[in-house]
Amino acid sequence: MASANPVNIPLVKDTISREEIIALSDWLRSFPRLTKGDLTLEFEKKWSEWQGCKYSVFVNSGSSANLLMFYALLLSGRLKNKNIIVPAVSWVTTVAPAIQFGLDPIVCDCDPETLGLDIAHLGKLVDEHDPAAIILVHVLGFPNKMDEIAAICKDRDIILLEDSCESLGSLYKGVKTGNFGSMSSFSLYFGHHLSTIEGGMICTDDGELRDLLISLRSHGWDRDLPPARQSELRSRYGIDDFRALYTFYHPGFNVRSTDLQAFLGLEQLKKADTVVENRNGNFLAYDSTIKNFQYKVRQAEGTLVSNFCYPLITEKRDELVAELARAGVDSRPLVCGSIARHPFWYERYGRTELPFADIVHDHGMYIPNNHEMTSAEIEYVANVVNSVL
Ligand SMILES: Cc1ncc(COP(=O)(O)O)c(C=O)c1O
Repeated sequence: MASANPVNIPLVKDTISREEIIALSDWLRSFPRLTKGDLTLEFEKKWSEWQGCKYSVFVNSGSSANLLMFYALLLSGRLKNKNIIVPAVSWVTTVAPAIQFGLDPIVCDCDPETLGLDIAHLGKLVDEHDPAAIILVHVLGFPNKMDEIAAICKDRDIILLEDSCESLGSLYKGVKTGNFGSMSSFSLYFGHHLSTIEGGMICTDDGELRDLLISLRSHGWDRDLPPARQSELRSRYGIDDFRALYTFYHPGFNVRSTDLQAFLGLEQLKKADTVVENRNGNFLAYDSTIKNFQYKVRQAEGTLVSNFCYPLITEKRDELVAELARAGVDSRPLVCGSIARHPFWYERYGRTELPFADIVHDHGMYIPNNHEMTSAEIEYVANVVNSVL
């Protein structure tokens, strides 16, 4: 009988370390407040400092972050129409809020070099649909072609949202991804660059949007808003301080996180720079060791890829997945492939052919990258890949 392979290279290792769990249990033994409180505010402040943005709003997942971004934008009254361009290679909850809020999503093909929005297709869609907004994803940490996208948005008065859930710490011309749009989202789910078990963050430099996000996060009330904003709302609607406790200005959600999660987030932030450096180092090591790429997703000039996992696009995908499994290495499809190939999309909008996203759908996959991978592990995985490609 063949013995089980002793090697096990998972996609994710423990982002939350033993030391962090011990620190958390010590903190719990001090019987602190657990629901959203001062630690959440501290985490949001430190996150903004690290990210280089004005405001951050901590929520319970990256998906909730996207949901709130869409709804805040809708309530802000800034959308000139209902058309929003969404990326083919994305995630269901990048796109779902557009459907849930009655907007009209239009899917854009992906760029073979970056897996982000394809600039030629984007230009064509903008001409055809005059969209009010665009949401993009920096897939697996590869920054989109931001100069071109920013120029289109400026020229055509389009609001940009950034789903940065896979790209914490990636740089485009020295600027962190998540600092280009009116709002950006991050995921802190297990397996992402940093983890609060479940969690998400929204970043913005816009005070009005931040106030909307804060209110929508908790029921639509004013309790967490800055005092000046609370007074303004209370006097506008004639609300006294007692009634204000349960007055709802917007049809909100409850997508708050907790101070327990914020405690973990503050610990995690301490190692954010190391995580980014290690993930980029692993990416570069894969890049120089793997041979015979059919399509190569690139670290474009002027960018730093804080890589989520390493992408491969090959017609030998089935053979490679099987060989990696035999060698004890985890792999996954290249995220959603084309979002237009999923039942929730084509049942509503019919089949949409997208030349490159379809290739990604049929032939794309990814192999492990996490900040604890060793160079020996990278070499081992790369050698398995080279034995098939
Ligand atoms: C691009 C993108 N957006 C959103 C999400 C959703 O994040 P969460 O799992 O925290 O809800 C993910 C999840 O992996 C993602 O990859």
